[in-house]
Amino acid sequence: MNVAAWLAKAESFLEEREVPEARASAEFLLGDVLGVGRASAASRGLQDLSEKQGYRFWRHVKERGRRLPIAYILGWQPFLGLRIEVTRDSLIPRPETEELVIECERLIQASQVPAPKIVEIGTGTGCVAIALAQLIPSATVFATDVSDQALALAQKNAIALHSHQRIRFVREDLFSGRPGLRGWADLLVSNPPYIPTADLDDLEPEVLMEPRLALDGGKDGLVAIRAIVAVAPKMLKPGGFLALEIESRQGPAVSQLLHAAGFEGVLIKKDASGRDRIAVARVVENA
Ligand SMILES: C[S@@+](CC[C@H](N)C(=O)[O-])C[C@H]1O[C@@H](n2cnc3c(N)ncnc32)[C@H](O)[C@@H]1O
Repeated sequence: MNVAAWLAKAESFLEEREVPEARASAEFLLGDVLGVGRASAASRGLQDLSEKQGYRFWRHVKERGRRLPIAYILGWQPFLGLRIEVTRDSLIPRPETEELVIECERLIQASQVPAPKIVEIGTGTGCVAIALAQLIPSATVFATDVSDQALALAQKNAIALHSHQRIRFVREDLFSGRPGLRGWADLLVSNPPYIPTADLDDLEPEVLMEPRLALDGGKDGLVAIRAIVAVAPKMLKPGGFLALEIESRQGPAVSQLLHAAGFEGVLIKKDASGRDRIAVARVVENA
């Protein structure tokens, strides 16, 4: 059977199962099987798939039919041009988080600190820590998570992307703070779990396949953010920055939390879709 026929069959199979963007999903999955991009796969209509390719493609399509996200099926997700391995132990890196990283790079460049020290809370796949280590070659990064599986994956990604020598991955609960890092960091960055618990059930089936630990922000979605705002002044140097990814409705509440904690220069920045997404603030004195 040729590519055009396989794609048509996959599209109708996925449509029957109400998979969003069925055609695009099929093209991505076929691209992986052929070792090419989505557009190139779609343009090979008359090319026949070998038996092995057809078997592999259809196994992917059946997984997608069960609403498994494409990144989990393929086992990786691009993030700022990096190939980040993902498993079901980790959140799939999002484009909004690429914007968080770019904002962090901007803050560090503007502050002109020669060898910046960065702490990331909740590293997941390690995508933020690794991208920052690559964008800021003079930086040292200390990245935490409470999930051993996520930390093992982050370490694996850092090794694969040759960044492991400048990142230390540590199992650490953000609620504890870390006495050894008192006044250590020039930047504390986090994309914490921030979805209100009651909203979790309304999420797309794909998102519900991601670890709850990475999503659930407690009753109002702000439990982890409050904890980070409380520990950040202890971990940051005077003048150090805090940068947080937030949910689009949390801008005013997070701004209030940061002001109440004594931060200066509080800014809520919008993402590419025009929604509140990143909170930035600066510590004036150590707590
Ligand atoms: C939204 S995910 C972010 C993952 C990754 N940094 C990214 O941006 O794609 C939040 C991460 O925080 C971790 N986490 C949850 N509770 C935590 C806690 N109390 N202390 C440290 N990390 C925690 C989760 O395991 C998860 O990896």
